[in-house]
Amino acid sequence: MNDKPAKKPSKYQAHQPDADGFIEYSDTEHGTWQTLMQRQLGMIEGRVCQEYLDGLERLALPEDRIPQLKDVDRVLMEATGWQTAQVPALIPFNTFFELLASKRFPVATFIRTPEELDYLQEPDIFHEIFGHCPMLTNPSFAEFTETYGKLGLAASKEERVYLARLYWMTVEFGLVDTPAGRRIYGGGIISSPKETLHSLSDVPAHHPFGPVDALRTPYRIDILQPLYYVIDDLRTLHDLANRDIMALVHEAMRLGLFAPTFEPKQAANA
Ligand SMILES: [Fe+2]
Repeated sequence: MNDKPAKKPSKYQAHQPDADGFIEYSDTEHGTWQTLMQRQLGMIEGRVCQEYLDGLERLALPEDRIPQLKDVDRVLMEATGWQTAQVPALIPFNTFFELLASKRFPVATFIRTPEELDYLQEPDIFHEIFGHCPMLTNPSFAEFTETYGKLGLAASKEERVYLARLYWMTVEFGLVDTPAGRRIYGGGIISSPKETLHSLSDVPAHHPFGPVDALRTPYRIDILQPLYYVIDDLRTLHDLANRDIMALVHEAMRLGLFAPTFEPKQAANA
């Protein structure tokens, strides 16, 4: 989600802000936000980490309408110096990394259609704001995300593909062990009602997080994840941001990818 541009053009179109930065949405779009909010608010209690809940409380997102980016920015800026950046539905890799490297989180200002309520491959505003922005108030998460942007900007095409796996297994689909139990911090899970239940069920594998392992793990963006990596504490992301991640990427490249634990896309669709 937002770690790679889709190859085919998006059916979605982002809404443009007016001169004051205000973005208008239709009643149907606000209604989709409200449905998603109500569904997820009822589901995240006891399933997401406390840092996420703290961030959500600070953001005080409206339940009945899509929030304005300016209101989100005020909170993020005060917490960690981050802000959002309004972008089209699909952006090039370079733009994505540039934005993260400068502490601006890209938000495509469109929302999924009611038919794609459960999960969509393209990151919409519900995914970016509800899924990621609460965690961006956490210094360790924010620091890792910024570092990822800087590394991605300087990386080669092949290195970027490896880096994307690390992002996927942490920022998007990461789990964390807490004194209260295993919890979700990945925005790809938190913005998907189905994946929220699936990720903590007995169905998928849970592995202790190791950066080289995560870098070597293939994934598909169009299925519920068969495997999640679990960090001990969100400080792990701070520690990781201060390691030589590119050396870990090169180690992963030398060792090669793990065999996928899922069906190849074509076979699965056949
Ligand atoms: Fe995302």
